[in-house]
Amino acid sequence: MPSVWDYQDQRVVVSGGGGSGMGAATVRELVQLGAEVHVIDLKEPPVEVAGYHAVDLRDPDAIAGAVTAIGGTIDALFNCAGLPGGRFSDLDTMTVNFASLRHLTDLVVERMRSGGAVASISSAAGASWSANIAKWMPLATCGGFVETVRWLEAHPEEIASGYAPSKEAIMVWTVWRSYELASRGIRINCTAPGPTQTPMMSEFEDQMGKAFMDNYPVPLGKRQTPEEQAHPLIFLNSKAASALTGEVVLTDGGTMGALAVGTLDVSAFGLG
Ligand SMILES: NC(=O)c1ccc[n+]([C@@H]2O[C@H](COP(=O)([O-])OP(=O)(O)OC[C@H]3O[C@@H](n4cnc5c(N)ncnc54)[C@H](O)[C@@H]3O)[C@@H](O)[C@H]2O)c1
Repeated sequence: MPSVWDYQDQRVVVSGGGGSGMGAATVRELVQLGAEVHVIDLKEPPVEVAGYHAVDLRDPDAIAGAVTAIGGTIDALFNCAGLPGGRFSDLDTMTVNFASLRHLTDLVVERMRSGGAVASISSAAGASWSANIAKWMPLATCGGFVETVRWLEAHPEEIASGYAPSKEAIMVWTVWRSYELASRGIRINCTAPGPTQTPMMSEFEDQMGKAFMDNYPVPLGKRQTPEEQAHPLIFLNSKAASALTGEVVLTDGGTMGALAVGTLDVSAFGLG
């Protein structure tokens, strides 16, 4: 009998699985576990995979073309691509981080059987999601990519700064979408990493200041690694997580939990 941890011969898709960040770490691990891995990213994957699709995730037709090229039944989707905001426009950030993630998911779940699973990377930057559900439900319930982008264009104030709004939107949509997918036996969850040592970190240092990122308080005592973010994603899409859906898993080394119960307060961030 196969183990609940097994990925042998599973057909999986990883967006953002190129380069050297969390998606790339997820790809390396999935290949080791025997999965048939298909990567969608502008950057090439870190190891040899079954399929690589160089797609700009702002292009919905290119996303659809990649899913058609992958074809067949898909067992698991890992949504790992993302932009950091900052020098990228609010609309581009929301489009890559949310609209394309949702579009890719919609296309891939059509190819899933009961037992399929989706895991997306949100962020601890979206930790206020549950206080903002009413704000994001109109976006979460949009009908498709075009309608989603139209909503984004019509709501510049809601999406101002790009990054945190995109991550809150992923969380609200994940929880909302889980109900309908559950009726088809498909699970969907997301993680919420804190500062993690990937190529994106230099972008956050430019935005927030290097000192802020260096002093960011993490109860576990250090910045996470790409592999430490890949492992929870791989767990969430495995049979071992069969009771989990519509879940937001904080993978931030304890910071947000400590802030919630007051064992850390905002002064720990050194903001004065
Ligand atoms: N690094 C952190 O501290 C941190 C913290 C919380 C959440 N995250 C999130 O983790 C996820 C992975 O980021 P990372 O830290 O590994 O950084 P990364 O920059 O290494 O990975 C992001 C990947 O997305 C791809 N990508 C971006 N725009 C694209 C586009 N238009 N088309 C196709 N591919 C595109 C990039 O090529 C890259 O491979 C992102 O969603 C990010 O927002 C990162």
